[in-house]
Amino acid sequence: MRLPVVVMGSDFAEVREQLGRTGRGIAVVRECEELAELIAACQSGAARVAVVAGGTADVTMTLVDRLLAVGVGVVCLSDDDGERRRLEGLGAFAAPVDVLGEQFEELVARAADHAARSAIADCPPASSFSVGGSLPSPNLVGAGLRGEAVMESAVGEMAEPRVDSNARIIAFWGPIGSPGRTTLAVNAAAELVARGRRVVLVDADTYGPSIAAHLGLLDESAGLAQACRLADQGHLDPTALQRLAVPAVTQGGELRVLTGITRADRWNELRAASLSAVLEASRGGADDVVVDAGFCLEADEELSFDTMAPRRNAATLRVLEMADRIVAVGAADAVGLPRLVRSMDELANAVPAAAPEIVFNKVRRGALGRFPDRSLRDAWERFGPARPIAGLIPFDAETVDAALFAGQTLLEAAPQSTVRAAIADLVCSPEQRKRRSVVSNARAGIWGPR
Ligand SMILES: Nc1ncnc2c1ncn2[C@@H]1O[C@H](COP(=O)(O)OP(=O)(O)O)[C@@H](O)[C@H]1O
Ligand SMILES: [Mg+2]
Repeated sequence: MRLPVVVMGSDFAEVREQLGRTGRGIAVVRECEELAELIAACQSGAARVAVVAGGTADVTMTLVDRLLAVGVGVVCLSDDDGERRRLEGLGAFAAPVDVLGEQFEELVARAADHAARSAIADCPPASSFSVGGSLPSPNLVGAGLRGEAVMESAVGEMAEPRVDSNARIIAFWGPIGSPGRTTLAVNAAAELVARGRRVVLVDADTYGPSIAAHLGLLDESAGLAQACRLADQGHLDPTALQRLAVPAVTQGGELRVLTGITRADRWNELRAASLSAVLEASRGGADDVVVDAGFCLEADEELSFDTMAPRRNAATLRVLEMADRIVAVGAADAVGLPRLVRSMDELANAVPAAAPEIVFNKVRRGALGRFPDRSLRDAWERFGPARPIAGLIPFDAETVDAALFAGQTLLEAAPQSTVRAAIADLVCSPEQRKRRSVVSNARAGIWGPR
């Protein structure tokens, strides 16, 4: 069977001529004038591979990712070495314009195969993400893609993920109602820094980003959105990431912060594919990547037939898919508890592999009676999934408000507080907890984790 292909770009002429002589495996079903037409053709199911021959500057990671999502692979022709590397970094296959007909056919076959596998994999595990896309990119870089050499290299295995890092991604997530995701994320990051870890703190909340406010950063740069844009274009490198991740100096050391979108209506700048690339790149220069995720997991936009449409909650979902640890934060009161219980089902449906660590924040007598920790544990045992409570963080409005007002972490504003110690205990290993040189010896007491 011949592979149906849609084509765009004048540089296809040379290949078409060659295919005329030898081509058996490809059927060009449509030649498109512009990208919108190419996308529409792919979405209609007309093609297995989209070929962009020349004028590849408009090919972005979002485009490649969305075409892969509908099972269409991407092949680009460009005579510029750097541009081919960029395209491969995005997850496309690339070759020079004078690629031989046979080799072009094989490249198209590989792109179709890659797309089919991407569609099956759908959401690959965190470890398989590469900087270049949501799957290891078809790395043909540096293989001298001209003439006979092309297919020998192209037939090789898929590229390894490019970031060689053991850094963990820790996501703070939780249901609607401000349970304290940002408070916990910011302070957890500060505690890790104080133990000598290199930490990148990422504000991926597409509804109410607030890390800059919590840290007193006068930052209007929306570092995460900018990093996503660069990743989308295939231009995110460690230097650019370093520039965009602004330093926040805390008493325990320096955090690097990718600040959130500056207006809620800019959520569509955080596309899943580019966010994956940013998180993966962040892992490259850090020991821990702490992410403040949004709350909403609803995927009802997916009911739309427009699979190219950006999805507001895609950022949250992608963070949770990639996270090595998910801390699910609930407010410890009669509203917050059932919300966290319900959100467990939503999480299990949206991200089946997720193993959230349950944390209740703002634990206080007034909301739960004389023995709030026992009340919480009893209620969770009865109504929640079979998953232990990993942490109880006390309510301490005076302390937390004062820190927020000063734009400081609890480590700086209230090092002796039990709320601070309880957050530290969530993220620091027992060995790290012993190292208390910059850390108070205040214990979480009855509020501490089991
Ligand atoms: N343990 C706590 N005790 C008292 N107030 C808290 C505590 N944790 C968070 N808060 C307050 O609750 C509000 C919401 O916290 P925030 O971390 O911004 O929530 P979210 O990120 O979930 O929307 C803030 O005013 C914060 O100061
Ligand atoms: Mg928040």
